[in-house]
Amino acid sequence: MNLRETLRINERGHLEIGGCDTVELAAKFGTPLYCLDEKHIRDMCRAYRDALAAGYGEAQALYASKALSCKALYKIVHSEGLGADVVSSGELYTALSGGMPADKIYFHGNNKTGQEIVYALNSGVGTIVIDGDDEIDFLSSICEREGKRASVLLRVNPGVEAHTHHYIQTSKVDSKFGLSIKSGDAERGVKNILSRKQLDLKGFHCHIGSQIFELKPFKVAVAIILDFAAEMRRKYGLITRELNLGGGLGIWYAKGDRKTNVKDYKDFVKVICDAVRENCERISLDRPRLLLEPGRSIVGEAGITLYTVGNIKDIKGIRKYVGIDGGMFDNPRYALYQAKYTAILAKRASEQPAEKVSIAGKCCESGDLIAVDVMLPPAKRGDILAVFSTGAYNYSMASNYNRNAVPPVVLCKGGQAEYIVKPQSYEDIARNDTFASWL
Ligand code: LLP
Repeated sequence: MNLRETLRINERGHLEIGGCDTVELAAKFGTPLYCLDEKHIRDMCRAYRDALAAGYGEAQALYASKALSCKALYKIVHSEGLGADVVSSGELYTALSGGMPADKIYFHGNNKTGQEIVYALNSGVGTIVIDGDDEIDFLSSICEREGKRASVLLRVNPGVEAHTHHYIQTSKVDSKFGLSIKSGDAERGVKNILSRKQLDLKGFHCHIGSQIFELKPFKVAVAIILDFAAEMRRKYGLITRELNLGGGLGIWYAKGDRKTNVKDYKDFVKVICDAVRENCERISLDRPRLLLEPGRSIVGEAGITLYTVGNIKDIKGIRKYVGIDGGMFDNPRYALYQAKYTAILAKRASEQPAEKVSIAGKCCESGDLIAVDVMLPPAKRGDILAVFSTGAYNYSMASNYNRNAVPPVVLCKGGQAEYIVKPQSYEDIARNDTFASWL
């Protein structure tokens, strides 16, 4: 466990989040239930904001919506001074509805549709991050038709591999994201953008991967991109006004992961700021405005999921399955990435784990597991199971598989808990179903 003031074991031996007893939360709101610790989200936003201000100056943190997107979250991150990165019309709509000012929104995506681009331009989205050659033509023709000029960044691929899970690496040369610096594609992209009067090229973006603890890949990427920026200045007179280094800092999930606290992220951000400053000095480049786009590290450890234990299947000598009332429909990360999680029994939070079990979801699929071979105290039907570090890429990746309802989200603060995403009813699940006329 990576406990903190707002995620602790209380006097009753129960797990508590944001001052709320998780056993009581489960009784009041039912399970499965996503719980978010507001203070931790705010602390993390401040860590990024303050470390960027202190270590760099002209800088802006953007919250990466893909980690968890709902209206209340934008209200929180905006009130802490963050902007947002969105990758779809749905995220853009939610961000705007949550009060995020359009000019603080960066629109990403490796294949934005025409409808998405029109929506972004007409909503006054601050910056569009171009992700390919073809998109330069596509975007400028839409701008021309709509009578708009767009501020853009070019997503480049510095070819740096961050040490993380294969599927979530995005910056290798072979990647659907960005234009490779090494291959010359990025330079061709710059020339193409500069020839379009509808596009104002502010600078560059890169995202080298996710769940990264090692800072070396960031430093290497910064050096490569800034060298490229200097070359573009020399060859085409381009002034790089913005440098957006994406997200990627890791969080604690399970044994073996670094147990970080809020201060550690300030230190990480400082290292990145130093790298940008030092490289700018090295190549005599005016310092661009610096942007970071953290997602996982803002909300990941702020979230836990509560489940109720149901069917327990002990296959002697082979495996003990602890069945829960959730599964891959609320957390597909084991099924997708064999992601590791830590679980405890909420009511016996300090009890020593005594058995090795696997936590099985309720979907009709053998791979529907939340954690494999993890230690738990002996669990029985009706126990509340808490899984840590589920704030990022759980709710946002949830589905209605097997027509299970996506669980609600409650925000917890100072002992209060309220829905920020309400429960789905069966009616909600079947809302868009209809009958073809001949049925
Ligand atoms: N910016 C861009 C352009 C990104 O592609 C991403 C994540 C981020 C920012 C935020 O990165 P973070 O700080 O959250 O690491 N579904 C996977 C994660 C995919 C991340 C993709 N891009 C998972 O569950 O681990």
